[in-house]
Amino acid sequence: MKEIIQKLVAIPGPSGFEGRVRDAIQNEVKPYADSVQIDALGNLIVTKGKKSANGKRIMLAAHMDEIGVIATHIDKKGFVRFSNLGYLFARNCMAAHVSFLNGARGVVNGDHLEDASKLHSLDQFFIDVGATSPKDCPVKIGDVGVFERPVIDLGKRLISKALDDRIGCAILVKAIQQIKESPNELVFVFTTQEEVSNRGATPAAYRVDPDLGLAVDVTDVGDTPTGKMEVSLGKGPAIKVKDGGMIADPRVVRWMTDTAEKAGIPYQMEILLGGTTDARTIQLTRAGVPTGCLSIPTRYIHSPAEMIDLEDVENSLTLLLDLLRNPVEIK
Ligand code: CO
Ligand code: ZN
Repeated sequence: MKEIIQKLVAIPGPSGFEGRVRDAIQNEVKPYADSVQIDALGNLIVTKGKKSANGKRIMLAAHMDEIGVIATHIDKKGFVRFSNLGYLFARNCMAAHVSFLNGARGVVNGDHLEDASKLHSLDQFFIDVGATSPKDCPVKIGDVGVFERPVIDLGKRLISKALDDRIGCAILVKAIQQIKESPNELVFVFTTQEEVSNRGATPAAYRVDPDLGLAVDVTDVGDTPTGKMEVSLGKGPAIKVKDGGMIADPRVVRWMTDTAEKAGIPYQMEILLGGTTDARTIQLTRAGVPTGCLSIPTRYIHSPAEMIDLEDVENSLTLLLDLLRNPVEIK
């Protein structure tokens, strides 16, 4: 598992530019899939198995994109001004290393502020890529990049950029590789542009037309010194009850908790006040779909250094496999 996580987080893939992530995932899953398709929005759609008499078509979704930056202006001295791709906390930008998809690299710093106690806003930052003018600047308007930072392996825990949501991608890759028999038709969608309002999942959910939906994504935790949320690292996968954009179908929630109880897998109930996932989009497609979300507890989401617990990841995979292997009982 560690290996696939490290492989996927290292690949740059800001919203709208997920191609390299998609290539890597496609290589991993192709030998195990019945069919692999890429749609107009760049979603990777991997199908496995057929729907039997007591089976359902289940759409699984994990997003390939990560928070990124897009160059908006190159000033006279060659400094790059930028905008965000996805929700970027300005406080996380100062001194961050940036790597552009075209190979250019640089560091973020900010305009001089008279009041040093103030935080910079996004438009007061620039990226220094070592240029002296627009002419010798290796970054052009519209070029995109991501934060660059090495992975720190703490043994049981891992710190990296882009765990949101390469961790979900890694879990779906493992599920595709490991699942053999299922009464269900499983459609694994590696989506694009989730961080800019689930744009990839919108046509994908319409196309798949599932009987049941499940997103696999990160959720916040409250186990830091002043945190308040009732989710912690290391206490198992979180089963979403509600977030800022959806109320999970209570029948799907019950199916998930019952399955975890039966298998003795630890789990936590998640109520996330802000933010949402592709699950919202699946739930609201066509005439509506019973949908839930399996969440991986993650610290410091949308920063260049997010943290997960590998035991949670393993338990999430175990729970997911259990959910997919058996006839779905929704009552
Ligand atoms: Co996110
Ligand atoms: Zn996410």
